[in-house]
Amino acid sequence: MPTASQEKRVAELREKIEKANYEYHVLDQPTIADEAYDALMRELQSLEAAHPELVTPESPTQRVGAPASTRFAPVQHAAPMLSLSNAFNEEELRAFDQRVRKLLGRDEVGYVCELKIDGLAINLAYQDGKFVQGATRGDGLVGEDVTGNLRTIRSIPLTLRERVKGRIDVRGEVYLPTASFEATNKERIERGEPAFANPRNAAAGAVRQLDPKATAKRNLAMWAYSAAGLDVSSQSELLARLEQLGLRVNPDRRVAKTLDEVIQFIGECKEKRHTLQYGTDGVVVKVDRVADQERLGYVARNPRWATAFKFPAEQATTTIEDILVYVGRMGTLTPVAALAPVLVGGTTVKRATLHNLDEVRRLDVRKGDRVIIQRAGDVIPEVVRVEIDARETGKEYPEFDMPAKCPVCGGEVIHPEGEVAYYCGNPTCPAKTGQRIGHFVSRGGMDIEGVGWALVTQLQEKGLVNDPADLFFLTKEQLRELDRFAEKSASNIYERIQAAKRRPLSRILLALGIRHVGDSTADDLARWLADRLPKDAGLGAVIDVLRSVSVDELQSIEGIGGVVAESIKEYFSRPEEQEFLDKLVRAGIAPLMPAPRPPTAAGPFAGKTIVFTGTLERRSREDAEALVRSLGGKITGSVSPKTDLVVAGPGAGSKLEKANKIGVRVVDEETFEGMLP
Ligand code: IVH
Repeated sequence: MPTASQEKRVAELREKIEKANYEYHVLDQPTIADEAYDALMRELQSLEAAHPELVTPESPTQRVGAPASTRFAPVQHAAPMLSLSNAFNEEELRAFDQRVRKLLGRDEVGYVCELKIDGLAINLAYQDGKFVQGATRGDGLVGEDVTGNLRTIRSIPLTLRERVKGRIDVRGEVYLPTASFEATNKERIERGEPAFANPRNAAAGAVRQLDPKATAKRNLAMWAYSAAGLDVSSQSELLARLEQLGLRVNPDRRVAKTLDEVIQFIGECKEKRHTLQYGTDGVVVKVDRVADQERLGYVARNPRWATAFKFPAEQATTTIEDILVYVGRMGTLTPVAALAPVLVGGTTVKRATLHNLDEVRRLDVRKGDRVIIQRAGDVIPEVVRVEIDARETGKEYPEFDMPAKCPVCGGEVIHPEGEVAYYCGNPTCPAKTGQRIGHFVSRGGMDIEGVGWALVTQLQEKGLVNDPADLFFLTKEQLRELDRFAEKSASNIYERIQAAKRRPLSRILLALGIRHVGDSTADDLARWLADRLPKDAGLGAVIDVLRSVSVDELQSIEGIGGVVAESIKEYFSRPEEQEFLDKLVRAGIAPLMPAPRPPTAAGPFAGKTIVFTGTLERRSREDAEALVRSLGGKITGSVSPKTDLVVAGPGAGSKLEKANKIGVRVVDEETFEGMLP
């Protein structure tokens, strides 16, 4: 039993450590030396070791104490985690302001402007001032329980500075500082793993580590920007209150009385953003008063009282050092520009996609050229144009051509008539297999973390895997014998692979990598299969149905058009897939059958089938699709007479043509936005 004075000392130490943490990580104003901090921590650790009954989850010693998990439990959010509509220029921002003023019926509307942090949205639940649960956004309604990992982030208080009674849900953005992001990528490249495309993906990767110790190493931090459960009358008051409670709130924010003041602030941020130690991709403009917010309400998942002004795509000039050819999962050859490294919007860019040979010809891009490249938010960097005038006379600028042989396996390159793409014709090309495995284990597929490039390449070279199904037959011993695989990581990977045998059917179907079968088709197909099979059907039964189904039957499935149906049929009849499919069955993959679809709500898209094509500018494709689904609509990937509406953006091609040909209604993004309630 601890003595009263020991108990008191423990409380005292915790308070001192938490205060030091707060001053260092939240206020950025340390008051004690590192050695003194370490001494306090050691004293607390030894007292807790002697008296384990004194350990509480909020103790600062417990930040990295949670055991590694194999999966994250789902968490239903108390209130949905929303997303924001976007404004890409001043005009759109003015339109937002006008809408707000019109709906409120007055001209004076106060706004709060905040930086839009490029990280991962999270929810922190506090019960009576204690951090009890942290979750990722997930699909906005259900996220993942990442409490153990979030506990390791020192700018997240485990205890609020005031013991507020009841529950508070704090929302904010977890992010990786730019320096850590670059260091992480450097390490990954050295290990032969692909670099993260942006700080957001890197932060998401770190937050979703299975072992909190791995998260703790990443130097993550967080900014809080909203909360439910606090009694405040405005957003500006809320931010001040969050600060009082010990949460870290971004100092670059402003209360603006007019839109001109908002625009002024945005201008300042555009200048300042490159001096910040983290990535921001815009400014969030929120109506300040809670009463006004309530009156304005929501359109599906977006509040009408806020919008995100996105900074324009960042451009830079650099030189094409080479034009490489990558081989994708389907064997598609993609020309990729190797660039002289250049900093664009806070990250170093070394590669830009050139999409296909037609695009290379259109740009007339050649090795040695000076080019303007561009990177907008998440998008893969691309070459915008060539500075033809910068070409030096007498210097060679060789024209690029697709190779006749696959650059990876030397297989014959094929170029089907009428198609833009070139393919490697060798069905066992290691690049294809590698990509295929990469797709199979990806988050949207079987979701097996830790099976990265370096590992896949080694496994392929040793002849241990020739297709994704072979992963399930790897033994711990085989994994342990690989380079850089210690006992512990070998058994971790082994466990993760084994755990992946139970996955939702739609994910398994997506993981197979059937051409034209994306998220939404995999979902439709899974539901159709679930209607036909018992709830506990094994993968064997599923595959039997798919092997025998006809194209006509497939086409009768809601959401599946002709091209997709043909592709599914072709995949399950293809001789070279049969052994792979049988092997998956032998591996004991047990699909989780989907629940029946909830009845669709009434709304402008209720019961309607909608196709998006081309580029969307106001919101991501994912968001737009989720929006339509939430309004009772159905998304499909191809246009057929069953399609009710096609939303076409710039770059729309064959789908738009087809819609026009068969007389399906086509609207642009503007009109689509106008159709939203
Ligand atoms: S407010 C209803 N404020 O942007 C309000 N979001 O598309 C919803 N984000 O998922 C969010 N900084 O991940 C808000 N200062 C900020 C933000 C911010 C970054 C992210 C957040 C959210 C997404 C909205």
